[in-house]
Amino acid sequence: MSSILIKNGLVVNANSTLKNDIMIVDGKIISVENSIELSASIENTIDASDCYVFPGGIDSHVHLDLPTPAGNSSDSFESGSRAAIAGGTTTVLDFVTPARGESLLNALNDRKQIAKKSCIDYGLHMSITWWNDAVAKEMERCVKEEGITSFKTYLAYKGTIGIDYKELEQVMRCAERLNVLVTVHCEEGEMLLKNQKQCISEGKTSPKYHALSRPDDVEYLAVAKVLALAEKTKCAVYIVHVSTAESMRLINVARSKDIKVYAETCPHYLLLNDTEYEREGFAGAAYVMSPPLRSHENTIALWNYVSDGSIDTIATDHCPFNLIGQKDMGISDFTKIPNGVAGIEDRLKLMYTYGVMKNRISLQHFVKITSVNAALIFGFYPQKGLIAKDSDADLVIFNPNTKGVISAAMQYQRCDTNIYEGFKTLGSIAYVIKNGIIVYKSKNGLLLNEAGKYIHRCM
Ligand code: URP
Ligand code: ZN
Repeated sequence: MSSILIKNGLVVNANSTLKNDIMIVDGKIISVENSIELSASIENTIDASDCYVFPGGIDSHVHLDLPTPAGNSSDSFESGSRAAIAGGTTTVLDFVTPARGESLLNALNDRKQIAKKSCIDYGLHMSITWWNDAVAKEMERCVKEEGITSFKTYLAYKGTIGIDYKELEQVMRCAERLNVLVTVHCEEGEMLLKNQKQCISEGKTSPKYHALSRPDDVEYLAVAKVLALAEKTKCAVYIVHVSTAESMRLINVARSKDIKVYAETCPHYLLLNDTEYEREGFAGAAYVMSPPLRSHENTIALWNYVSDGSIDTIATDHCPFNLIGQKDMGISDFTKIPNGVAGIEDRLKLMYTYGVMKNRISLQHFVKITSVNAALIFGFYPQKGLIAKDSDADLVIFNPNTKGVISAAMQYQRCDTNIYEGFKTLGSIAYVIKNGIIVYKSKNGLLLNEAGKYIHRCM
């Protein structure tokens, strides 16, 4: 029997912040009470005085070991999940991406083989990259047999994994019947392809044209069409990585008409802006992700949508590529720069520093958008996202009395750059407990490399 007693922490849940002790036995929280007595039989005791205790972070949008023409994203499930732990994230949702024509269940089995290297628990969103009746039948099996509650669709990436609006409508009708979610990458595929071709034909090949070929309307026009389909099909949708103020305005209008829609954004759309693409030479390539970084005005508006609760989740879309050896595939053609950036290790400290400490969100709001809401939306609450009896013992003990600076040289995530290089942070992760085991201590770094488990989810 393994046991941990956490004493005197300020325990932050979505609806309460209370000084309490937490008793953990064999991976589960068995009690959260005012004063739990020390006893000789308890294996580990942690003094969390002056610290917060948060539910382990849940990053609901990551791409570990993602195959691309520039090689796989540079974090494997093993390295990426270790970086996640160091950053206070104890659960991730990654993706299965079947090739066009491939069986969903075969692709799922293959992805599970790769994902079992994860050191933290993980769920998988199933991407729908093509459509026919067989896909509909397999969607049902994914939900009923495999515990998948979310299907990912891409309106960008035409010709590879992207689908069109007709196919999306079919996916949404099927998901609605199954009472599960459709998550959508909203970028107008045709529009951005046309813009890209025009840029290249005019010799505009540098990284900044990645952003210029994907202006705000490439995103929000797609958001508008997806919301119209959500109204028509009654399917609940989750818009991934919202990057523009106009998209959020449309989402809130839809909500006022009772359309069920969730919104996610990422720290990079809050903390960085499109001036990064003006960097010398090819350096802007490190910031190439889709959608691209937006104007300073958009970042301000997005923070307001975080503060007022319109944005449900902060995920990272963690999909790192090294500048040397991967991003540089696009040195003479920005369309060949692999899309994606790292963030899994920095999410909690960034949202604490620039959210909580800037008075944009409360501590309870912080745990909602970094953990609780993802578990609720994707169907694994209260197993995770809650510090209470019977929940998984996935916890972060956070010391607010420290300062740090983000640097690629110091990171666990496997990438030769960090888009937040030099950002100052307040507070740090003192301990991470995952399934009842201490897996990180600030003094010692990462401690163990325990296997994570696949999460069966249920709506
Ligand atoms: O640039 C991004 N977002 N890369 C990851 C794949 C995706 O589109 O989500
Ligand atoms: Zn993504």
